[in-house]
Parts: sequence; C-alpha cells; structure tokens
Amino acid sequence: MKIINKADVINLLEQEDSISSTLGFRHSSGSLKKGMNKKINEIAGFCEQIFKVVSKYKKKNEIVFLECSCGKSYLSFVLSYIFEKEFKTRPFFFGVDTNGELIKGCEETRVALDYKNMVFKHGRTIDFNSDKKVDVVIALHACNTATDEAIAKGIKIGARYIMVVPCCQGQLRSQIKDHHPLTGVTQFGLLRCKFADILTDALRSQFLLGNGYYVELLEIVPPKLTPKNVLISARKIKNTNKRGLEQYYQLNKIFNTNFSLQEYFTEQSIGDDQTCAC
Ligand SMILES: C[S@@+](CC[C@H](N)C(=O)[O-])C[C@H]1O[C@@H](n2cnc3c(N)ncnc32)[C@H](O)[C@@H]1O
Repeated sequence: MKIINKADVINLLEQEDSISSTLGFRHSSGSLKKGMNKKINEIAGFCEQIFKVVSKYKKKNEIVFLECSCGKSYLSFVLSYIFEKEFKTRPFFFGVDTNGELIKGCEETRVALDYKNMVFKHGRTIDFNSDKKVDVVIALHACNTATDEAIAKGIKIGARYIMVVPCCQGQLRSQIKDHHPLTGVTQFGLLRCKFADILTDALRSQFLLGNGYYVELLEIVPPKLTPKNVLISARKIKNTNKRGLEQYYQLNKIFNTNFSLQEYFTEQSIGDDQTCAC
C-alpha cells in the first residue's frame, strides 16, 4: 500500500471538490474556508498516521473502523474517500456520537456522497455494539472521558488498533493539587493543567500497555496549530501485560489520583455524555 502523508491529504482536499464541498470545507466560490484550516490539518495529520498503521495490516476482508465521538465524522468521510480513490477499496465505518443532530447530519452527508459503507449510531461510545468485528478504533478530540470510553471500548472488543487524539482532560486537574511528591509543580495553576494532561495520557498509555498493546505517542500537527495534537497509537500484541497495569496503578497511587479507566470493565460502567467548549 502506498504511503499517504499529511500534505497528500491536504492537496487532495484542495483539489477534489466533491468531498470537500460536501463536508462544508469550501466556500461557494470554490476556495477552502480559512476557518476549516485547523480541522483540515488535524484530519490530514491523523489520516497520515492511520495510513502508516493500516498499510502494514494484512487483512483479507474489509477493514472495519469505529470512529468514537465522531461529531460530523469528517475523519471517516475523508478516510473513506482516500481509500477508494488511492487504494480502490472501501473499508467499513461505524460512527458513534451522543449528539443526535450530528448523527442525523452524518447520515445526510453519507447519502449525499452515496457511501454504502458507513453506519452512524446515536449513543455513548461505551454502549456501542455491532455484529461486525471492529479492527481499528479512532477518536479525534473526544471530550474529556469520552476518550477513555474509546480506549475502553477498543480494549473490550479486542480492536487490533486503538488510535486516539484526546481533547480537554478535566478529570485529574482538581485531584492533583496536593498530597503527592510534585506539589512544587502542581501548586501553579498553569503547570497543574499541563501536568494533568501529561499524567492523564501517561495513565491511558500504561493502561493500554497493561492490556497487551504496544503504545506510541506522537504529534499529528505542530503544537502552535493546536496543543491538542497528541496521538496515542496502540497496537494489540498480546493478551495482558502485568507490568503495564502495575505502572498504571502505581502512577495513580503516587499522585493520589482516582483515574478510573478500569471502572469501564466492571458491571456498572461510569461516566456521562461529555461536552466541552471545543
Ligand atoms: C469536540 S467534538 C469532536 C467531534 C469530531 N470528532 C471532530 O473532531 O470534529 C466531541 C464530540 O464528542 C461527543 N461525545 C461526548 N461524549 C460522548 C460519549 N460519551 N460518547 C460518544 N460521543 C460523545 C460530542 O457530542 C461531540 O460531538
């Protein structure tokens, strides 16, 4: 499979009117909307990493994606378009979101593009079910713990790949004010927020390691475009990894935090719909 990089995706969206107009990326005059520049770059940066991963995935049947907190499902539509155009193949896409209006909009876009390889579901990621085996779980800026739902869902359904670019991460901010060895850092509000983001992504990564995934973290776009640019990219390699889980619990213990990814694996799952100002 040939490599598609970020610049290729942006070029394609600039040149191909049918997809970028239908997704609302263009003015009626034909030029790309300046206001969509950040989103287009995020999508292109994420696509690049997805193509890198999927190009190594030898699967005979169609690849099945689940986009969690899909919003308008820009990412899935662009991926589907490129797969068809460049690789003459159509993976299958599920999209799930708690916002019913957005899911309705996704269905309208799907009809406009005449894509028969997509199903959109209204509801929480953690409640998503399907008869099809999902290979790749993706989430771009799923608000707060909605990212954790995507990770938990991916682990539960045994997804081969889990790739998430988290959004705002509020869960730990208020928990790390005191009673841990780095209070000299977290006493400053700005540093506390930055540190909470780092700790949250470290806990997520350790939890994935502990569940048998190989984990890499990388930036999909430069931080000056958006600080929410970190991709946690996980590939299933074995069943569980005791050491990773120990690190997860140890980090929680050191910082006296109650980060609760493991609770999605108990009978009564946690959380609510997440909203943010993003
Ligand atoms: C910041 S938007 C990102 C949308 C899209 N992924 C994008 O990048 O354009 C976050 C989305 O998460 C959805 N959401 C929040 N909590 C959710 C949950 N528990 N399960 C599924 N979707 C959720 C919201 O409705 C919203 O559409």
